[in-house]
Amino acid sequence: MSSLNFVDKYRTSIMLRRPRRNRKNEVIRSQTRETNISVDNLIFPLFVVNGQNKKSEVKSLPGQFRLSLDHLLREVEECMALGVKSFDLFPAVDDSLKDAIGSYGYSSDNFYLKYIKEVKARFPEAQIMTDVAMDPYSSDGHDGIVKDGKILNDETLEVLGRMSVAQAEAGADIIGPSDMMDGRVEYIREELDMAGFKDVSIMSYTAKYASAYYGPFRDALDSAPKFGDKKSYQMDPANKREALVEAELDYIEGADYLMVKPALCYLDVIHMLKEEFPIPIAAYNVSGEYAMLKAAAQNGWIEHDRAMVEMLLSIKRAGADVILTYFAKEFAQLQKA
Ligand code: PBG
Repeated sequence: MSSLNFVDKYRTSIMLRRPRRNRKNEVIRSQTRETNISVDNLIFPLFVVNGQNKKSEVKSLPGQFRLSLDHLLREVEECMALGVKSFDLFPAVDDSLKDAIGSYGYSSDNFYLKYIKEVKARFPEAQIMTDVAMDPYSSDGHDGIVKDGKILNDETLEVLGRMSVAQAEAGADIIGPSDMMDGRVEYIREELDMAGFKDVSIMSYTAKYASAYYGPFRDALDSAPKFGDKKSYQMDPANKREALVEAELDYIEGADYLMVKPALCYLDVIHMLKEEFPIPIAAYNVSGEYAMLKAAAQNGWIEHDRAMVEMLLSIKRAGADVILTYFAKEFAQLQKA
């Protein structure tokens, strides 16, 4: 017989605090929910490619495509109708245009700059974030100028400054320096201000870790390093307090947002920056995080939509105000459904 028989019925019916009362139905659950995600919090990263009528799926990112301008405009239009209004564009650049100093990044015939202009012309209310880093344009596949196998810091800043001003001229609303060079936020802020772009924001990739979770993204852009790795500029996954140093610098140097990347393995870092800094905190739910969920869902091993929402909730709950995520459109569709 079960031991329940021996429990004093009167004693167990009195319990002052019963947390389950606040879970008893969906009205109460949604009323008392501590964290809510809205499409307003999301930024949708999109890969773009030169040409017309091109839409090729990234193998390791099911559901994500490299888009030519016509498809990009259609995608932005569809997303806007769903309430997704912020986009982060990444260019897949032909190898023949890459060089040691990433000069195509600020060249006047850069298709990426033209696309930014076109999107802003067609959808002025769309918010366009751009990527400032050398790797999509570098023949070395690195985020900085390479000399004797070393990644040069200060020499790279000049390239980043030129790219930033070119992107601001094209109409970018937010500049996203993603390379982890020292001093870039201040350098870019000054270049933007001197060029008259004082209203263009900077979302700094503040604590960007040398992560295995960027793999699918590098497939998308064909931007993997040609030698070595990125450990001399991206952060060691073992480090947390070091993120405070990066954050303090970015804050002082004028960043408008501080970003942590990747998101899921670094929820503690997101939380810490949220506690310590009074500006919006962003988190990048990166390609590998998306790919893992997609692969498991395709195998029937995990429930896609619930896992997606749980993933985004956890990032928000940890302290992210803004989430860059490849799930942005699907999340918006799910909410509309
Ligand atoms: C490069 C850059 C990377 C990502 C965004 N910008 C990859 C890298 O540092 O090698 C990764 C994004 C993702 O994995 O979704 N400047």
